Amino acid sequence: MLTYKCCLILLFICVEGVFGDTDVMKSVSVTEGDSVTLNTAVTEVQRDDQILWMFGPKETRIAEIYKHVTDMFSSNETFGNRLQLNSSTGSLIIRNLRSTDSGLYKLQIRSNRGNSDKTFNVTVYAHLPVPVISSNSSQCSSSSSSSQQNCSLVCSVLNVGHVTLSWYKGNSLLSSISVSDLSISLSLPLEVEYQDKNTYSCVLNNPISNQTQHLDIRELCICPDLSSSSRSVTPSVIYAVVGVAAVARLLRQI
Ligand SMILES: *[C@@H]1O[C@H](CO)[C@@H](O)[C@H](O)[C@H]1NC(C)=O
Ligand SMILES: *[C@@H]1O[C@H](CO)[C@@H](O)[C@H](O)[C@H]1NC(C)=O
Ligand SMILES: *[C@@H]1O[C@H](CO)[C@@H](O)[C@H](O)[C@H]1NC(C)=O
Ligand SMILES: *[C@@H]1O[C@H](CO)[C@@H](O)[C@H](O)[C@H]1NC(C)=O
Ligand SMILES: *[C@@H]1O[C@H](CO)[C@@H](O)[C@H](O)[C@H]1NC(C)=O
Ligand SMILES: *[C@@H]1O[C@H](CO)[C@@H](O)[C@H](O)[C@H]1NC(C)=O
Repeated sequence: MLTYKCCLILLFICVEGVFGDTDVMKSVSVTEGDSVTLNTAVTEVQRDDQILWMFGPKETRIAEIYKHVTDMFSSNETFGNRLQLNSSTGSLIIRNLRSTDSGLYKLQIRSNRGNSDKTFNVTVYAHLPVPVISSNSSQCSSSSSSSQQNCSLVCSVLNVGHVTLSWYKGNSLLSSISVSDLSISLSLPLEVEYQDKNTYSCVLNNPISNQTQHLDIRELCICPDLSSSSRSVTPSVIYAVVGVAAVARLLRQI
């Protein structure tokens, strides 16, 4: 048993020595529609160098350089013509990124100067929509006096994943909500006083970008003034009175 362990350790040291930076994992975060270059760190590809790129759980071969010949294995269904190899460095360029391009890209370099394996963990994030702030007017009639009543607002976004939605008062965080998977809609409420002069903003962000919507209290916080509503005359009543008067005038003229 002891000898077995020793052998394993020796083998491990051996493998380490030959393969150099084996098992290096690099995380890459990008936005949908952008381009990304996965670098080999090779400065100049030599004739006997073999550089192989593989993608996904099945480690499908997608691109290779060997004896200075470039081979793109990729089927048009996955990458179409969005893949490119830099012939002098062997670096992989993926253009017009899609969310389905997320995953592990394995790089295998076999060379007289030594071998190396590297993995790139690529995460493609969606473009973020600008969040929408709206008033929750169902709250309006609940309080008795309009001067003490708060304005009830809600900030929302549709069809998002891996995001956080937050309310800020100036630069300080008031509240936030996060979703890790894809979500149909996400909303976060806020209560402010009508005469509040602070600046409020609703921010949607993922690990690499954000979108902000500023709150305009004067535009959104309009509640019907309940205390005076009983005394007000509705337009339909006014039209009815005017209508009757006009008919009466017409009748008199006949
Ligand atoms: C892939 O390319 C072939 C030939 O160019 C074409 O017939 C086929 O429709 C393409 N498939 C897709 C999914 O684009
Ligand atoms: C390949 O990469 C090198 C170094 O980044 C760059 O100078 C060169 O322009 C690239 N070549 C192509 C064809 O993209
Ligand atoms: C790749 O990165 C994503 C996002 O950071 C992470 O969730 C995932 O666990 C990583 N995969 C591996 C194999 O490390
Ligand atoms: C509006 O306010 C009511 C009462 O508090 C609440 O039940 C409802 O969920 C709110 N609507 C939204 C969209 O937050
Ligand atoms: C009005 O909102 C403030 C926070 O903006 C809160 O402290 C207060 O309790 C609210 N008042 C009522 C009557 O809901
Ligand atoms: C939003 O992104 C910008 C850079 O694009 C950054 O300066 C800012 O701090 C971010 N804001 C938040 C609230 O994350």
